[in-house]
Amino acid sequence: MDYLEIEGGHKLQGRVNISGAKNSALPVIAASILSDKPFKITNLPNVVDIRTLLKLVDMLGGKVEHDNTTAIIDNSSMNSTKAVYEIVSQMRASILVLGPLLTRFKHCEVSLPGGCAIGQRPIDMHLKALEAMGAKIEIKGGYVQAEAPKGLQGTKIVFDKITVGGTENVIMAASMAKGVTTITNAAKEPEIVQLCELIQSAGVEITGVGTSELSITGTNGKPLAFQECKIIPDRIEAGTYLCAAAIANSEITLENVESNHIKAILDKLESMGCTIKIEENAIAIKGPKKLKPINITTSEYPGFPTDMQAQFMAIAAIAQGESIIEERLFENRFMHVSELNRLGADIWLKGSLAAVRGVKELNGADVMATDLRASSALVLGALVANGITNVRRIYHLDRGYDNLEGKLAKLGARIKRKKE
Ligand code: UD1
Repeated sequence: MDYLEIEGGHKLQGRVNISGAKNSALPVIAASILSDKPFKITNLPNVVDIRTLLKLVDMLGGKVEHDNTTAIIDNSSMNSTKAVYEIVSQMRASILVLGPLLTRFKHCEVSLPGGCAIGQRPIDMHLKALEAMGAKIEIKGGYVQAEAPKGLQGTKIVFDKITVGGTENVIMAASMAKGVTTITNAAKEPEIVQLCELIQSAGVEITGVGTSELSITGTNGKPLAFQECKIIPDRIEAGTYLCAAAIANSEITLENVESNHIKAILDKLESMGCTIKIEENAIAIKGPKKLKPINITTSEYPGFPTDMQAQFMAIAAIAQGESIIEERLFENRFMHVSELNRLGADIWLKGSLAAVRGVKELNGADVMATDLRASSALVLGALVANGITNVRRIYHLDRGYDNLEGKLAKLGARIKRKKE
């Protein structure tokens, strides 16, 4: 198994290119199922999750040509509607094929994604919405078995709680349904906007894009023909490199980044004492000598993203004073706490609140990654810890960070991938 060996205490400098957003690429790939024409996607991140979903499309009978950042998908001869456990269990986002398969083929079987380290993460809202659109759904043998012999029917969906994946599944299902589907309390993330724009590129009418009220007029069973799609920059990867500069008291520039998507992150970094300059498609950041403490509550977009909570906890660990971080989206998303404490951080947990008392220094140790973003928090801590830190179980990192060690090494970090 691979691990990262990081020698702390080296400053970063230079420019880093931000890859395409994993969380945008996944629904865009799932949406390819709605089309019976070849469809080209560019600016894909080179990460495991993307390869996993493309493999699923291939197993469903799609034709996939993929190099590192580009894929051409031709689903004209897709001949299976069963998304098997072996793939879905590797990645929860595979559930995104449910809406497209059901609306195009009128029946499908998709394995239940199962538990996830950061919390329960059920899919009840996805299923309830598809049932409201006329699907008959049963859970049998660990699979969601769904059918809608006459096709899905547009209707009014009201989500009890904001769900990114649920909103994406319904948008895709609605795009080939009969009539109009409205979604109230829809997610507004930039990834949702990209998915809506892709579907609009096929001539489907969608109103309210980027708001919590969406209305989608379906094609009544006619497959879609998309224009080529360039994946938006990854706002979480961008946020992670900004945190790297902040924690390492360094000056770096991010390229190919969309500053409008990360306002909440930039705002918190400025409050912690970072200097930020926004340029065209680029952001320059200078970390302060002494970081100030911060209070953070995670929430849905445009609020502070839960996917950046762990990284901010790492930088708060060496701030001058006490920070309070509240996690409101996922009940178990604090598994990095004990690992950061192994590096010498002083973090106390009570329910969904973490109190982070800034310490003067961190010290290298052996630590274990527990989920994708928790892993990057450990890498951030390691950048400034005295001596060597070994971050183990980095398969979590490989799911969502494109060449993290290569990009950090180019910025001057001492970081090596090694085998156990
Ligand atoms: C997506 C992101 C993930 C991010 C999360 C929140 C992708 C591939 N993943 O995950 O990185 O952390 O949004 O911004 O884009 N919930 C239910 N029932 C449901 C669906 C969700 O109770 O049917 C709950 C979840 O357990 C969670 C909350 O709703 O507490 C938000 O989850 P959701 O927005 O659906 O997250 P994902 O789409 O899984």
